Amino acid sequence: MDRIRITGGQALNGVIRISGAKNAALPLMIASLLTAETLTLENVPSLADVRMLLRILGHLGVDHSIDGRRHGAAPDASRPIHLTAGDIVDIMAPYELVSKMRASFWVVAPLLARMGEAKVSLPGGCAIGTRPVDLLLMALEKLGADVAIESGYVHATAPKGLRGGEIHFPKVTVGGTHTALMAASLAHGHTLIENAAREPEIEDLADCLTKMGAKIKGAGQSRIEIEGVGSLHGARHRVLPDRIEAGTYAIAAAMAGGDVMLEGAEAGLLQAALDAIEQAGADVGVTNEGIRVRRNGAGLMPVDIATAPFPGFPTDLQAQFMALMTKAKGQSRITETIFENRFMHVQELARLGAHIRLDGDVALVDGVDELQGAPVMATDLRASVSLVIAALAAKGETMVNRVYHLDRGFEHLETKLGGCGAIIERLSNPG
Ligand code: UD1
Repeated sequence: MDRIRITGGQALNGVIRISGAKNAALPLMIASLLTAETLTLENVPSLADVRMLLRILGHLGVDHSIDGRRHGAAPDASRPIHLTAGDIVDIMAPYELVSKMRASFWVVAPLLARMGEAKVSLPGGCAIGTRPVDLLLMALEKLGADVAIESGYVHATAPKGLRGGEIHFPKVTVGGTHTALMAASLAHGHTLIENAAREPEIEDLADCLTKMGAKIKGAGQSRIEIEGVGSLHGARHRVLPDRIEAGTYAIAAAMAGGDVMLEGAEAGLLQAALDAIEQAGADVGVTNEGIRVRRNGAGLMPVDIATAPFPGFPTDLQAQFMALMTKAKGQSRITETIFENRFMHVQELARLGAHIRLDGDVALVDGVDELQGAPVMATDLRASVSLVIAALAAKGETMVNRVYHLDRGFEHLETKLGGCGAIIERLSNPG
């Protein structure tokens, strides 16, 4: 199993190209199931989760091809992926595949909408709380599906097709909104989604579905209206930049100090996080090229944050921001409101010398003058990268074990950080 070794204490200086958003690419790839024609996606990041989803889609009958990398192109240059679900050969997504990646459960919606039936294993996935799917199933039921749970599988049927309906989410759910959008696009009649998630990835999916012939109004707002159509067609779509990756490297630059240009990042997608990073003492500048983050010498200030649905502070940056706060001059209060049990990074940060006390959904972080390198263990995707951030500013060497979590969501992490002067190295297959 790979490990990453980091020797802390180097400032970061240089340019980091921001990749396409994993959390947009996954639902967009799943949307290819909605049409027999080819969906071409540009700017899909090269990640373990993307490869896993290609396997799952392949199992269902989706053919894919990836354009060759241009000679001399940067390793993270965009390679369009063509996805064609000409014939869906199976309406069942098995446990062995779905359990490896939670978002793959979302295939239930297009399978049901196009085939009238889907059998999808209940997901496993990231260890960040229970993460139920009740609201996704509620949305499908509102569109006329019969849903039964049979031996760990969700069996959803709508033999006469889905019909439009009113879906009111009692809680903002990204996956629920993706599911409702995909299913309603091919349902008969009009659908209203209330309290929809407003995350940029929802708007990106809706844009793509619109290019495929769907009729959607209001994506990006909490009230979305969809007029179902009989069929969808092929399209070409570019995945939006990854706001979580951009926020992660912005925090890394604030932590290590230096001057980093996040090329291709869009500030509007992560304003709440940029505000917090600025309050912590970094300079954040927005240019046509991207976002520039600088910090020279001055100490970090404590900042209180609470995670919230978009446009609030993203839960997917909570662990990284906590890492930053471990070196602030004073106490900060970090509240996690989206997921219970999303504090597994606390114990590992403590191994690096951080002072953090947990009280329910609040973490109280008392900044320390110095972190010390140590062996640590990655637990989930965002938690792992928070350890990398802490390690960049820790004295001595940190070994991050179990980095397959990082590979799920961060493209060329060590190349991107190493290119800015970090001393970071991947060690493969250590016995
Ligand atoms: C997506 C993101 C994830 C991010 C999260 C919140 C992807 C692939 N993943 O996950 O990175 O952290 O949004 O921004 O895009 N809930 C229910 N019942 C349901 C569904 C959700 O109670 O049926 C709850 C969850 O437990 C959680 C909250 O709703 O407390 C939000 O979850 P949701 O927005 O659905 O997260 P995901 O779509 O799984």
